Amino acid sequence: GDDGYQLWLKYEAVTNPTIKAEYLKYTAFIGQPTEGKILQSASQELQTGLKKLLGKTVNITNSFGSRSGGIVFKIETGADSAQKPEGYQIKLSGGNIVVSSKTEQGILYGTFALLRHMQMQETIKGLSIASSPKVRYRMLNHWDNPDGTIERGYAGQSLWKWYELPERVDPRYEDYARANASLGINGTVLNNVNASARFMSQEYIVKVAAVANVMRKYGIKTYLSVYFAAPKTLGGLPTSDPLDPQVRAWWKEKVAQIYKEIPDFGGFLVKANSEGEPGPQDYGRTHADGANMLAEAFRPYDGIVVWRAFVYKADPNADRFKAAYEEFVPLDGKFDPKVIVQVKNGPIDFQPREPFSPLFGNMPKTPLGVEFQITQEYLGFATHAVYEAPIFKECLDSDTFVNGSGSTVAKVVDGSLHGYARTLMAGVANTGNSRNWTGHPLAQANWYAFGRLSWDHQLSSAQIAQEWVALTLTRNQKAGEHITALMLRSREIYVDYNTPIGLSRPWMGVHFAPEPWQNKGSRPDWTAVYYHRADSIGLGFDRTASGSNALAQYRPEVQQQWNNPDKTPLPYLLWFHHVRWDQKLSTGRSLWEELCTRFYTGADSVVWMQQQWDLAKENLDTQVYADVAERLKVQRREALWWRDAWVLYLQTFARQPVPAGFNPPK
Ligand code: GCU
Repeated sequence: GDDGYQLWLKYEAVTNPTIKAEYLKYTAFIGQPTEGKILQSASQELQTGLKKLLGKTVNITNSFGSRSGGIVFKIETGADSAQKPEGYQIKLSGGNIVVSSKTEQGILYGTFALLRHMQMQETIKGLSIASSPKVRYRMLNHWDNPDGTIERGYAGQSLWKWYELPERVDPRYEDYARANASLGINGTVLNNVNASARFMSQEYIVKVAAVANVMRKYGIKTYLSVYFAAPKTLGGLPTSDPLDPQVRAWWKEKVAQIYKEIPDFGGFLVKANSEGEPGPQDYGRTHADGANMLAEAFRPYDGIVVWRAFVYKADPNADRFKAAYEEFVPLDGKFDPKVIVQVKNGPIDFQPREPFSPLFGNMPKTPLGVEFQITQEYLGFATHAVYEAPIFKECLDSDTFVNGSGSTVAKVVDGSLHGYARTLMAGVANTGNSRNWTGHPLAQANWYAFGRLSWDHQLSSAQIAQEWVALTLTRNQKAGEHITALMLRSREIYVDYNTPIGLSRPWMGVHFAPEPWQNKGSRPDWTAVYYHRADSIGLGFDRTASGSNALAQYRPEVQQQWNNPDKTPLPYLLWFHHVRWDQKLSTGRSLWEELCTRFYTGADSVVWMQQQWDLAKENLDTQVYADVAERLKVQRREALWWRDAWVLYLQTFARQPVPAGFNPPK
């Protein structure tokens, strides 16, 4: 059976005889012109891939002169290419398949693209593929702790075995690097944003260096999350004030120490003054003061500072939705050029559906990166199947209207709107030490989708799903169609039974079980009732001028889409309006009827998902089939649980029966 370890790099044997014959014409040799480490990874990957795809061992050679019939790497000198450094071209030339790029890294990406092409059994007649990344820093964020646990991780323990490092380097690190490089991911933050100061100790820096040595071979830079108060807790200084000369010197020295061990170190990721983490505000300084101090320490090096904008205050009268904008927009133009501000896709926290964060477009002088969550913190952990590409795309395709129509979040993030020199897309990883990396076999697709979109945000959710299914699960077309249909609808189905019509955060604590009734917490915004605002009149959070007026943070064109309850698209309705239970919606149903309809049809649609999966059964590995089929059973049970919890709870306010045709919950 297939244990899922190989992910989308299975290189299943080519079965189409015509295609196989085409490929075999180019297997006389692999031409690797120079000894570079990344080129070596590319050659090895190609050799491994061709062996599995075609059953033939193809030799790697440095001296191929004008030989033909092989696959050749070509490093282009500046002049002959308009490509970005990491971009690549693949074409037939001089009787060879030529993979060319300005950099070794580009050749590695081109090699993976060629292997993907071959895994899909596509013809190479007239082969001509060219691609460049739209975003420069394409990064995973691991929320992994030094003790091996993963915050919001559902696929086992951390991949990083700190207690064995640096002496023992788990071979799995290399497979991790291969998987990421195959998607174009070029950075990884190894530790949790709720960071331990321990990672700044020499003891840990050498451990990190051992991991970085593996990543480097695949063009991946290693980054660390930092604990802002480390000068005090680790360095023994009386303060961690970013304007204190001793503190500044401490960080400079620290960064120098890191570069001694890791010459290509990527930089720092910082969560500061957020959810109890220390930060510059502890000393009356701003986020910019804190970020710029760290940026200064990186001045002699290539590294960057990624500063998170995930902040909110414990103010009962404030709307948490507005917090990041209020704190960060006034700082626009104040950040050092080495700083990128990393903004979550939505204003709250990775909900199943959120409007785009109003920060996008509103900090034209500050590079803004987007942070997506791949791990399914609010999406049913590792038992619910939720394909996330539509979530990522929905944000990227949103129009901010900041420079007229067409000013999408994607254009903010890829720098084309405001001309940012440094651009970033980050994804909170869903990997762990489960044999199949992600726990739920279908969750591999979310890692895949994030990586592919970080390279090219114009790819469609459907195209990415089809690709992933063909590479990972089955090349049978009919079976593939059933699975991609399931994947493409899975997010809407989840939203329908979990948080329909713009509801959010019906959880506390672990973010798993339904708790919409939760009304006690150490802060008002750490309760569920804060978000849905159910009462005898209706449901939803008024964010118009009569409420928190969070809508004012968007451009007028966006406000227009959302400020009239009669015109607000249903997916966003309760995000912005408190709607009467008996209010007739665009569907012809009242709010209460519409909610019930969503909860019931959503939960029942899991049965449809089970049917789609079963229709693909004969073309699936038996182990993978059974694993997903069993998880879908859990999902079905839990979807009913969500439905019943919500319906019974909201009924205490709406005081209406469940509409005819649906069975009342027991
Ligand atoms: C969420 C999540 C936390 C995480 C935080 C963050 O609140 O539940 O576990 O630390 O986001 O992104 O910093």
